[in-house]
Amino acid sequence: MEKLYITGGRKLSGTIEVGGMKNAADPIFFATLLTGDVCTIENVPDAADISNAASILTKIGAVVAYKGPHTYEIDTRYVKEANIESSFSAKLRSSYYLLGAGLGRFHRAETGFPGGCDFGARPIDQHVKGFRALGASVVEDKDSGRIICESKGNLAASSIYLDVPSVGATINIMLAACMAEGTTVIDNAAREPHIVDVANFLNSCGAEIYGAGTPTIKIFGVEALHGCSYAIIPDMIEAGTYMVAAAATRSTMTVSNVIPRHLESITAKLQEMGVSVEEGDDYVRVLSPESDDKPLFPIRVKTTFYPGFPTDMNPQFAVLLCLADGESRLTESVWANRFQYIPELVRMGAQITVSGSDAVITGIPSLRAANVRAVDLRAGAAMVIAALCTPGTTVIDDIHHILRGYEHIVEKLDAVGADIRLVQLPDGI
Ligand code: EPU
Repeated sequence: MEKLYITGGRKLSGTIEVGGMKNAADPIFFATLLTGDVCTIENVPDAADISNAASILTKIGAVVAYKGPHTYEIDTRYVKEANIESSFSAKLRSSYYLLGAGLGRFHRAETGFPGGCDFGARPIDQHVKGFRALGASVVEDKDSGRIICESKGNLAASSIYLDVPSVGATINIMLAACMAEGTTVIDNAAREPHIVDVANFLNSCGAEIYGAGTPTIKIFGVEALHGCSYAIIPDMIEAGTYMVAAAATRSTMTVSNVIPRHLESITAKLQEMGVSVEEGDDYVRVLSPESDDKPLFPIRVKTTFYPGFPTDMNPQFAVLLCLADGESRLTESVWANRFQYIPELVRMGAQITVSGSDAVITGIPSLRAANVRAVDLRAGAAMVIAALCTPGTTVIDDIHHILRGYEHIVEKLDAVGADIRLVQLPDGI
């Protein structure tokens, strides 16, 4: 069992370099399957979710070779089918991309239900609607826990309107449609930067995808894809997490290897709270005032789809709002169960009342150290930030959630002056 011990109250300084985006790297790993060729993927984060995606690909016959820091070569030439055991698919949410990629290459794919963070219901009806529109049959067998997608021959292009701009459904339909016959149109598509990254990867492999990053994506089906070399974009959520860590600890710190445009909503909300943010070409610098007495202003934050404020920054921002001078309101509009981390913050003295999708947060001068849990990935990041800005030692449990998505988080924070230790304990302690 691993726990994080963080003694907070220290200022952070220097630079944290952000890694590649997990939520782009995962689908791109599965997308390599469509090429039946060799792909080199760079700027891959060292996160457990990536190892889980790599083990699924290996299990079905791909050769995934680590070629040096953040670089993998993936050879999918000898893969014969896209079928994995449920114990593998349960390890990560992104395992559902095997369905789109497998349908595109083999016209058949089978997995168990995907895992990932538990935010209450995480339906995949829009993925299924897309696959069916492309001519596949989809069976979701609740008894066996298996999902089986199949088409007789090539998929046939179609027009698909998504009821919600789902990241996963948009990517899965792009994967399946790359080699479908004709032109597929996805309307009300998700616009997140990782959608654009996956489309750019596929286009580098010979696909013809236009409009990624807008609500309408057109995919002109091609006969075959080929391998390529591709570098993943920086992780905007990792970057945002460290920006909030700097603001919460009243530090001046640089976050590098970022695309500042992807961070605009986060930067805007920090500025609204009175935090200065300087933008360079590929870095942002959070500048805190010399005096800790300068108040953080209370604000309203509403999470939504890109380019709005990301739901994956909800818990981290909640910590900052706990330190504001007055009452803030944080509204969640993507996940029903996103606020399950709040009892952990309350354990640290936070004053938060949740009513439906709204959290009303009354700022206090400081949180207090406690033993808390990482209830999911971003909730875990929030506990780290809360611990960093709180005097005394906070112990964080269930940190496997954090390690799924934040590469080298202990080393990165240690290098900017945090007192953070990962401790391995015998089970039950
Ligand atoms: N939705 C449906 N039907 C569907 C799919 C989604 O109703 O078929 C709804 C969901 O219930 C939710 C909304 O649409 O209310 C958005 O879901 P989306 O499909 O966009 O989420 P996802 O693809 O399952 C990805 C990220 C999440 C991130 C969301 C939203 C991955 C592996 N996960 O999930 O990231 O919160 O998009 O941006 O890419 C994280 O990294 O911590 C994380 C949870």
